Amino acid sequence: MTEALSPVAMPFTPSALNDARAKRPAMGHIVAVASGKGGVGKTWFAITLAHALARRGKRVLLFDGDLGLANVDIQLGLMPEQDLGSFIAGRTSFEGAAQRYGEGGFDILVGRSGSGALSALPPPVLERVLQGLRSAGEVRDVILLDLGAGLDRSVRRMAAYADTLLVMATGEPTSLTDAYAVLKLHAADRPDGISQVVVNQAATRADGERTYATLSRACSSFLGRKPPLLGIIRRDERVRDAIRRQTPLLTRHPGCSAAQDVEAAANCLLD
Ligand SMILES: Nc1ncnc2c1ncn2[C@@H]1O[C@H](COP(=O)(O)OP(=O)(O)O)[C@@H](O)[C@H]1O
Ligand SMILES: [Mg+2]
Repeated sequence: MTEALSPVAMPFTPSALNDARAKRPAMGHIVAVASGKGGVGKTWFAITLAHALARRGKRVLLFDGDLGLANVDIQLGLMPEQDLGSFIAGRTSFEGAAQRYGEGGFDILVGRSGSGALSALPPPVLERVLQGLRSAGEVRDVILLDLGAGLDRSVRRMAAYADTLLVMATGEPTSLTDAYAVLKLHAADRPDGISQVVVNQAATRADGERTYATLSRACSSFLGRKPPLLGIIRRDERVRDAIRRQTPLLTRHPGCSAAQDVEAAANCLLD
């Protein structure tokens, strides 16, 4: 058998869910969201998860780790005075570069959209940023990193640095293949690391379970370990509407199917 993802789905295994629930974020827990492929919904999910965690009383910092094409601020319509570039240039402290997002009840440290300079951070600068994230965790419960697409050096380092890596996939073969590549590299970089899968844009829950089964089967066969499922997020037109209006989904469409699914994923992360 070759190391390729078979489109044939495996039955969903509920035991994986129980494993996922065993992973409890502690104080300052760093959670990164990666996917390999772009456009699967990482940024939107990271924002909405940050919001859901904040609503559960958690102190959260959302870090825009898409260093080349930062867009957390765009999805939320923010015009930050400081950003990661200010910290890197030494104009402000790490905390000084973050801002309060009052509407969501959490803090955000944005990148700078279209800043090629940030996408290729020299390793010592990236390490300084990671130390900043760790110290930000001393006064927060969860630090959420929205990582960029691809698997460049910075993405790989941030994924390996995180305490938990959430790997997002959709049912598209390209997304599944890229998600598998992220999981494979993470297994090599962090043999003891925790990774969990988030399926996004599922037509139905059953469809999402099939996507998860395909991915987890490849992981079992070729990596010898199966990442638990954190959650299945259904495709929902209201996500696009909220993004278009630069308003968080949980504010604009609370209780819609995608909102329910992110709330459930937040519970699972904290359970
Ligand atoms: N659950 C969902 N239902 C419907 N559309 C979604 C969903 N998740 C993401 N999208 C769409 O995918 C687009 C890309 O999302 P984004 O968060 O920018 O992806 P990424 O950060 O992975 O590049 C969004 O603009 C939104 O329209
Ligand atoms: Mg993004």
